[in-house]
Amino acid sequence: MTKSFKITLLPGDGVGPEVTTVAREVLDTVAGETGKKFIYDTQLIGGVAIDEAGDPLPEATIQSCKAADAVLLGAVGGPKWDRAPKRPEAGLLGIRKALGLYANLRPLRVQYALSDRSPLKREVVEGVDLIIFRELTGGIYYGAKSRSTEQASDQCIYTKGEIERIARAAFKAADQRSGKLTSVDKANVMETSRLWRETVSRIGAEEFPQVRLEHILVDAMAMHLVRQPRAFDVILTENMFGDILSDEASMLAGSIGLAPSASLGGSGPGLFEPVHGSAPDIAGQDLANPVGAVLSAAMLLRYGLGLAQEADAVEIAVEGALAAGARTADLGGALGCREVGDAIIREVRRAAMPPGHRMQMHWG
Ligand code: NAD
Ligand code: IPM
Ligand code: MN
Repeated sequence: MTKSFKITLLPGDGVGPEVTTVAREVLDTVAGETGKKFIYDTQLIGGVAIDEAGDPLPEATIQSCKAADAVLLGAVGGPKWDRAPKRPEAGLLGIRKALGLYANLRPLRVQYALSDRSPLKREVVEGVDLIIFRELTGGIYYGAKSRSTEQASDQCIYTKGEIERIARAAFKAADQRSGKLTSVDKANVMETSRLWRETVSRIGAEEFPQVRLEHILVDAMAMHLVRQPRAFDVILTENMFGDILSDEASMLAGSIGLAPSASLGGSGPGLFEPVHGSAPDIAGQDLANPVGAVLSAAMLLRYGLGLAQEADAVEIAVEGALAAGARTADLGGALGCREVGDAIIREVRRAAMPPGHRMQMHWG
């Protein structure tokens, strides 16, 4: 009997439902072509969850995620809830913590066909293929917060164990890729960064002596990322620096709408979501680029369900659709979110045809 996989869908707010609908259709196409079976359970998170259940992370959502093989999320947040006592973002931070997802993988590959779309010169971005390992359940995001009329504080804490586990994950990836790891911190100012640097250096020396490790301060890294992005392969950093650097890095590829992520490391399912947010300025207009969500679905297949071939097929379909000109407005195109989704789906179907019927690939 075919094994069926349980996927919890968390569309969330703004463009979240638009891009997750496309990602789900792509997964359904993969299922149709391969005989795999995906069973979805759609749950509330973020602003819609506040509106409908009074809580950005209802208990039913946590239970569904824990029982799933993987979770696919759109985005949370929006101006409607900016002054609310409970914030939509608390739902996302809560589910990451509840599932123990300490490793956030944010790969960034500049597609050949899009190397003219970056605001940086083609010769700077061409061939960029890097991955950010962002620590996701520690640091300033989760420390104690306080607020009085005159003062506010956010505490930043990292334990040695939290640093060791994300460092090992990044070293392993570096070992399998180019053999080089760049660790980013602010060790000239922050005590947490000094512990970070010492711990990463020790794990490297003791367990991965074959990996070349470099340390770069985060301000300089922001500069190097646009100066010479090809100098980097695996980048390891803490929660907030990873958040900021991954939005910056997304523009090497041409749009934040292209960037996917996988949040892993717990004993249960992984969570897969585009790097972008709810994009309130374009929500509800069929303008959102669905590629980040579709590539997150590919990461779900690869890391969440162990379906590497199916993941490859989705990634190749995205490349093909983009190269053939299926692009939303953020990439200078004229297509809507759904139309780009349809183009990707056609590519998935076409690639699945028997070899004799396969058309010429039109990229590379
Ligand atoms: P954003 O990523 O939502 O939008 C930034 C800019 O990028 C906007 O101009 C937007 O139109 C554009 N953009 C984003 N996604 C796009 C896509 N798929 N296609 C085309 N253009 C796209 O960031 P923001 O405006 O700073 O945040 C809006 C809300 O989203 C906030 O409430 C924030 O907290 C939330 N947010 C959520 C997540 C998440 O759920 N993972 C991530 C980031 C921000
Ligand atoms: C992201 C987002 C989130 C983060 C917010 C919405 C909590 O910006 O996933 O990158 O800061 O982690
Ligand atoms: Mn972010």
